[in-house]
Amino acid sequence: MKTEYKIIGSSVPRVDGEKIVTGRAPYTHDLSFEGMLYGKILRSPHACAEIVSMDLTPAKNYPGVKAVIQVKEGRVRYVGEQVAAVAAVDEETAEEALKLIKVEYKPLPHVLMYEKAMEQGAPKVRDSGNIDKLAEYTRGNVEKGFAEAEVTLERTYKTSVEIHHTAETHGSIAQWEEDQLTVWDSTQAVHNVKAGLAEALGIPGSKVRVIKHYMGGGFGSKLEANDYTIVAAKLAKETQRPVKIILTRRENSMCVGYRPSSQITIKGGAKKDGTLTALSMKNYTCGGIGPGDECSTPLLDIYKCPNAKVQEFSVFVNTCEGRAMRAPGHVQGAFALEGFMEELAAELGMDPLELRLKNYTAKNEGDTGIVYSSKGLDQCYKLGSEKIGWAARNKKPGETAGKIKRGMGMASQIWWGDGVPGTLADLKVYPDGSVEAICGTQDLGTGTRTLMAVVAAETLGLEPQDITIKIGNSDYPWAPVSGGSLTAPSVGPAVRDAALKAAERLRNLAAKKLKVEASDIVIENKKLTDKNKPENALSFKDAAKELRQETVFHGERAEHPSTFAFNTFGAHFAEVEVDTETGQIRVKRIVAVHEVGRVLNKLTAESQVIGGVTQGLSAGLFEERILDEATGKLVNLNLHDYKIATSMDMPEIIPIFVDMTDPRLNNLGNKGLGEPPRIPISGAIANAVYNAIGVHIREIPMTPDKVLKALKAKEARS
Ligand code: MOS
Repeated sequence: MKTEYKIIGSSVPRVDGEKIVTGRAPYTHDLSFEGMLYGKILRSPHACAEIVSMDLTPAKNYPGVKAVIQVKEGRVRYVGEQVAAVAAVDEETAEEALKLIKVEYKPLPHVLMYEKAMEQGAPKVRDSGNIDKLAEYTRGNVEKGFAEAEVTLERTYKTSVEIHHTAETHGSIAQWEEDQLTVWDSTQAVHNVKAGLAEALGIPGSKVRVIKHYMGGGFGSKLEANDYTIVAAKLAKETQRPVKIILTRRENSMCVGYRPSSQITIKGGAKKDGTLTALSMKNYTCGGIGPGDECSTPLLDIYKCPNAKVQEFSVFVNTCEGRAMRAPGHVQGAFALEGFMEELAAELGMDPLELRLKNYTAKNEGDTGIVYSSKGLDQCYKLGSEKIGWAARNKKPGETAGKIKRGMGMASQIWWGDGVPGTLADLKVYPDGSVEAICGTQDLGTGTRTLMAVVAAETLGLEPQDITIKIGNSDYPWAPVSGGSLTAPSVGPAVRDAALKAAERLRNLAAKKLKVEASDIVIENKKLTDKNKPENALSFKDAAKELRQETVFHGERAEHPSTFAFNTFGAHFAEVEVDTETGQIRVKRIVAVHEVGRVLNKLTAESQVIGGVTQGLSAGLFEERILDEATGKLVNLNLHDYKIATSMDMPEIIPIFVDMTDPRLNNLGNKGLGEPPRIPISGAIANAVYNAIGVHIREIPMTPDKVLKALKAKEARS
């Protein structure tokens, strides 16, 4: 049964919205402290080189410089790798001092393109070689499955590197008081950064505090203690002054990570009626000097297929390490799988939505796993296809006349989003009736404060604005990273738990005062009321007075059963126009339907969907990191040459939520939503392009040159 709520599920404006839009919300960039120094980092100009020698003395002697440290010895393996650092009285002085550091390098051969790194005789990025096994999985028997198939198809899809490009670049300020380190950081994870700093500096976790007030985005690039944050802490220690290091857009483009690329080959077999008999996947994924992303989950989990086989390999090149980016692996995997489903449907002469329904499953991992506690994907299909007008799509791809062709496509989404048991939150009620919700979570820009206020206010019969929110400090009760779509289903239930305890105590106190049973007391409209005699009531304030002192209620996100699988689901439907003369793709309309259990705040949930669609459209059509193999350098290190979608590129976006709740998962029945809307969007657009022009673009970004090339190839075939 679904509990009805007053505030939860409605559209609540952000409790801190006014502060943010009027510029009063303090971001890490905005902070400054008495005696603060500015840190700058010297970075390797070589993609691969041995550091032969380094002379810091001239930089140390430069007026205004307070500290110079070497941070790297031996081999540098990418352009932008940290080599040395300076702390000075201002940024200009620090910049000048960097030029005075004398580093002698012995350049070594490098390789930047993953295709080149896979060739025989390529320069070795790692001593063990440039290719490493990343993941392997088998279920059933794919050979048997392909033998049973009446139609088989094999296709290769590619996704390029995607840079996080947060509005606020990376940055930290470090300050020591005796042996206590405080770091103000632009981070998605105050507790994680605290643990990482303690480890890197060899000090106890109890000696580190990390604070994050407001933040301009992370998308996965700010989940850990960063190398420059450790440098800031070291410079601060040496100078005994606060040190601020803010990365430039150029540095942000070069050395704080990106979504690893993928090259995914899918082979699939099906009966003539569309029943899948086998799916196999081989992926070469590249995350620079680090591992790539595992991309197979959508292929393994979303459709029923008894026989499946996956092999994934990381390819190493001389660029900085890739990093988790909004739905790591699922984004690349969904682009490949959903494109493949579209092509398979065409091969079978089936409607692509029908093919998906034909292979629908209520269980995790095809037929071998456990049943989903809730799965509203069928409803996503229904609501989305109705809204976009799926019936009106081209029956034969490319059939519209004229040079500008219209088409419709869709793609499915799967992701976790179940949240983390053990997440803690406190609720403090003061005898004057004021209320605080406290949690060591953080807001990476998605509206965490509002989410907490909504849950606490709903439970205590108050308004969201009545709740003071304290987050973004590692001294507060533990909460996980604001990533992995974890926040709402972890922090929400913890706050709910604490608020329920507070409500119970207040009901007991009110019952005594009103001389009724506690079970007869209802908390709503800022009152505690005898449900049998509404005039017998106590204001929330008067009930709180009975507490006599400020009182803390501890909340915890409980375990969920392991006998059920929990995932989020969704489907995006896209309508596009393709100019067959210029190769330009114009997205006209996106219907984005998601099943995330109960929606806590419709307004911020819709914002998440609009953001995910925007980011995926941008990556699907424009974003590409350009490398220069000869010099080993990255070419487009700014937002002029690295294209990101602007408001002019955006279509109408219609977010829809399936009206569901999952009471088995947690006390609110909600799942996460941060990543789901990023997953299916590029695939939905690619499939709509196929429906418009009759050729499939199997590589993102789908830039005009690729569209024209594909059209030309099609012409040559006919
Ligand atoms: Mo996300 S990639 O977990 O911020």
